[in-house]
Amino acid sequence: MFPVWKGVFRRQKASKLESDMPCRPEEIPVHVAVIMDGNGRWARRRALPRAAGHHAGMLAMREVIRAADDWGIKVLTLYSFSTENWKRPRQEIDYLWQLVDEFFKLDIQELVERNVHIRILGDPSQLPLATQQTIARALEQTKANSGLTVQFALNYGSRWEIVRAVQQIATRIEELEISVSDIDEQMVSDALATAGLPDPDLLIRTAGDQRISNFLLWQIAYAEFVFVDVMWPEFTRQHFYSAIQAFVARERRFGGLK
Ligand code: IPE
Ligand code: IPE
Ligand code: MG
Repeated sequence: MFPVWKGVFRRQKASKLESDMPCRPEEIPVHVAVIMDGNGRWARRRALPRAAGHHAGMLAMREVIRAADDWGIKVLTLYSFSTENWKRPRQEIDYLWQLVDEFFKLDIQELVERNVHIRILGDPSQLPLATQQTIARALEQTKANSGLTVQFALNYGSRWEIVRAVQQIATRIEELEISVSDIDEQMVSDALATAGLPDPDLLIRTAGDQRISNFLLWQIAYAEFVFVDVMWPEFTRQHFYSAIQAFVARERRFGGLK
């Protein structure tokens, strides 16, 4: 039940920052998306199995969800498993599904109490049945919640999502419901898994690599990118706080002039 490496992860100390907002409420990004990378490298540096890195990564994710809620962020999108991650060893993939189960079982109560609304981006049909059921329960339990929306990108790929959107729109044309000239940006946005939500304002990627890895390609058109060197399991509320402060310091022009 409790993996041997559990003691390795040190819970971050509570600090004064915990209750503080990183900026004025009106400056807080509405939607933050995170590429949670570096679990494997974190583990390797400690001579631990990659699974230990993923477990520690789950604990970091829990704290980031809490912080986002405490600070009044409206949407948090967490890249948890990409369509390309199927290339990994079966054992690692199986452990990741086990972790999804564990996370929802342990945290659902708190998420419900925090009025969190859970959404899944991606195709869950390829996941183990038990995991699909756990996810379905979590969606059901939080569907009426009006607080922070947490989107888990699970078996998600932006190209998969765009292909699906094109197919959906093409079908509507084929069925003579719409014509080609009806297609506009809003229609494309509405055909994506993120339909109805604002685009990310801030995209954070941990672990030093500066790439997108097939994440939210359409939606990040005007997102501010913050790349941080720390591995995901080491990413604390303080790092999150700094990323938001970096975002606030940027001048967003959206192609216009200031
Ligand atoms: C991110 O950490 C988690 C997933 C992709 C599931 P990685 O497992 O990619 O960690 P690194 O990049 O190998 O260090
Ligand atoms: C991106 O990380 C996917 C997730 C964080 C779930 P990867 O580790 O899969 O990305 P690459 O392979 O380094 O581009
Ligand atoms: Mg990685």
